[in-house]
Amino acid sequence: MADGFTLEKFARHPFYQEINRRLVKLAGLRPGQKVVDLGAGTGAVTRLLVEEVGDGGNAEVIAVEPSESALEVARRNLQDLRGAVVRFGQGGAERLSQLVKRQVDAVFFCNAIHLIREKAKVVQEVYRTLRQDGTFSFSTSFYEGAEPPESEQFYRRWMVRALRALKTNYGLMPDRAERATARERLTAAEYVELLEANGFRIRDKEIVTVNMPLESFEDISEYELWITGVLPGVPLAAGSQALKIGVREAFEELGLKSSPRNWLLVVASKS
Ligand SMILES: C[S@@+](CC[C@H](N)C(=O)[O-])C[C@H]1O[C@@H](n2cnc3c(N)ncnc32)[C@H](O)[C@@H]1O
Repeated sequence: MADGFTLEKFARHPFYQEINRRLVKLAGLRPGQKVVDLGAGTGAVTRLLVEEVGDGGNAEVIAVEPSESALEVARRNLQDLRGAVVRFGQGGAERLSQLVKRQVDAVFFCNAIHLIREKAKVVQEVYRTLRQDGTFSFSTSFYEGAEPPESEQFYRRWMVRALRALKTNYGLMPDRAERATARERLTAAEYVELLEANGFRIRDKEIVTVNMPLESFEDISEYELWITGVLPGVPLAAGSQALKIGVREAFEELGLKSSPRNWLLVVASKS
């Protein structure tokens, strides 16, 4: 991950913390359990997990994350945590069973499963790493259906304005070829099928609608994976600025105070 283009600012928004906390609560963890935070990023969910299982004797939270620089920030952010052993493992979800060799009580994969190309492989890795009846919980706001119909005009306007800013201010355009290979998005029903086909039973499935304020769109425009997802091939600083200009113009032109977005939350157990 490039320095400075992290999720940290966005992750501080109360709605984001509430969604993550809701998923953690849905999973019904108990003190003393061992859990994996997959795609831990800079550690926002890791902290919630320690709060949940901490003070229970052998509690352990293992943060697994491919980005070295994100892990470094996570290590720093979580220094003050007490009540559970926190371990860090560098690597992708595709290698989970090599990174975590003992079986754990729960695996969380928050706001990241949509980034995975080989989703079935990762679900199988999670299955291998869980004890019998252990839980796999994930959330995503990049599934087919995440943008409610009433938000479509906003996203269109945002992109038109961001592309205009990119061209006018920097003389740049996104790379079309990279755009064409954008990641496939599953529907909520396809996620359920994927889990059931790989030995999981769905325990809870919720869709939470969040009314996101302008500042949260500005802050997500500082995140590398968002910038490269919507403006592939564009240098991060220019992409970030263009997205911020675009979103401010879209909000103003459409007279918005917020724009809705859906999060899919799923808790499944290894049956
Ligand atoms: C949007 S962040 C989410 C961070 C944190 N889980 C949260 O909910 O705030 C997505 C994270 O997934 C990580 N990621 C990307 N590819 C991954 C992979 N193949 N396996 C595991 N994590 C991955 C990214 O590096 C990033 O830290």
